Amino acid sequence: MSINIAIDGPAGAGKSTIAKKVAKNRGYIYVDTGAMYRAMALHMLRENISPDDTTAIERACETADISIKYINGEQVVLLNGENVNAFLRTEAVGNMASASSVNGKVRAKLQMLQQKLAKEADVVMDGRDIGTSVLPDADVKIYLTAGSMVRAKRRFDELTAKGEPADIVKIEADIIERDHRDMTRELNPLRQAEDAVYVDSSDMTIEEVVDCIEAIIVEKLS
Ligand code: DC
Repeated sequence: MSINIAIDGPAGAGKSTIAKKVAKNRGYIYVDTGAMYRAMALHMLRENISPDDTTAIERACETADISIKYINGEQVVLLNGENVNAFLRTEAVGNMASASSVNGKVRAKLQMLQQKLAKEADVVMDGRDIGTSVLPDADVKIYLTAGSMVRAKRRFDELTAKGEPADIVKIEADIIERDHRDMTRELNPLRQAEDAVYVDSSDMTIEEVVDCIEAIIVEKLS
């Protein structure tokens, strides 16, 4: 049986940075489920679909073939065979991913892929509904969060380091709106699983969070 570690939490809590490091330390595969929702959203943006057009979203979902492969340990998302990693991390794609992920057909299609990956290999999988819905029997479940201002500041620093323009007030407003949508949607909303360990990373460095999660994993697996 493969070992499954689920890390859920809101946007910008540091899930992917932490999950990637934990996976590397343990020799597991890192599965970024947000990237799958983002690839689906990119497909929809390319087709000029409005986030409110359910019929068009469901039609586009059928024509989007999403798969993942690993190159030098990095997850690469393929959209109809094209490596789309370079296009996934924009605010427009993130907002469309949050909006289109409320759709049941989108969720069902991506969940199937996620469950297959977790069955085949030891994984650290991050997202919004991993511990509650995708892998309810995961060996370890973490709910990783941080205050909205802290998360906005991290995103702001990331953008300015890349020389991109950024407005911290707008970033925080977007984060709060995204949290609200992800937490209040009908299907698989973001929430802490009953058996998940709550970690607030607001006042912790990346290394401290990794150490904290490693300790939780060691305790749960022993
Ligand atoms: O983690 P992220 O910011 O890359 O995710 C983008 C959006 O995808 C997020 O706002 C909601 C959706 N998502 C989801 O509904 N379920 C997941 N397991 C992962 C992401």
